[in-house]
Amino acid sequence: MKILILGANGKIAQLVREMLATKHVSLRLFLRNASRIENIGDNEEVIEGDATNFAAITRALTDVDIVYANLAGQNIEAQAKNIVRAMTTANKKRIIWISTLGIYDEVPGDFGKWNHEMLDGGYLETYAAAANVIETSPLNYTIIRPAWLTNQDEVNFELTQKGELFNGTEVSRKSVATLVTEIINNPTRYTNQSIGINKPGTDGPMPAWY
Ligand SMILES: NC(=O)c1ccc[n+]([C@@H]2O[C@H](COP(=O)([O-])OP(=O)(O)OC[C@H]3O[C@@H](n4cnc5c(N)ncnc54)[C@H](OP(=O)(O)O)[C@@H]3O)[C@@H](O)[C@H]2O)c1
Repeated sequence: MKILILGANGKIAQLVREMLATKHVSLRLFLRNASRIENIGDNEEVIEGDATNFAAITRALTDVDIVYANLAGQNIEAQAKNIVRAMTTANKKRIIWISTLGIYDEVPGDFGKWNHEMLDGGYLETYAAAANVIETSPLNYTIIRPAWLTNQDEVNFELTQKGELFNGTEVSRKSVATLVTEIINNPTRYTNQSIGINKPGTDGPMPAWY
């Protein structure tokens, strides 16, 4: 199986890369400024490109089974549109898309208000628009909505579904990477679902470390 990782120098993407290093999958790492990737493994290849570039994404999709998009930026909706167009044209179906908590206004209570205060004004709106591009596409998607991310060296998470209130305030990048790896290893899991991921027992008005 060949996995295309878009935004491969991203922090969660790098953890997924480590987790898949010993697995029988090949990884195509797509990123800007490819020289940043060190220690390219036997199961890895690197492609430089920008996620808004149709030709670059199309080239990167050759022989790919699953696309894992770990992207960011104010133009994330344009990136989503380009990826959907390229995947649809290339007849590719499976995508894992990292988004954020709050895109459906699903975060309750004081934390929900705080989350709006912190993320409104560009971020939440563009991430919501990008997720909508993915959800309304013909692709077979899994959207992952992480709580506020930490670099804790722990795997401890629970999930919520779209339509349910979001739980908790934080989650480790390692937990999100574990979920992504689980889906790559079982590609039919969580298909056409948008799932929230948080660390259990972290309810509160804001992340405890903030
Ligand atoms: N921080 C939080 O608490 C939190 C909570 C929930 C969700 N999230 C979101 O979760 C996602 C993943 O988190 P993370 O920590 O892994 O993020 P990250 O380290 O910022 O990774 C995002 C990657 O996207 C790449 N990228 C941006 N625009 C691109 C483009 N046009 N073409 C190709 N690559 C592009 C960046 O590449 P460059 O290295 O070239 O800039 C970067 O490596 C992010 O979207 C983040 O906003 C964050």
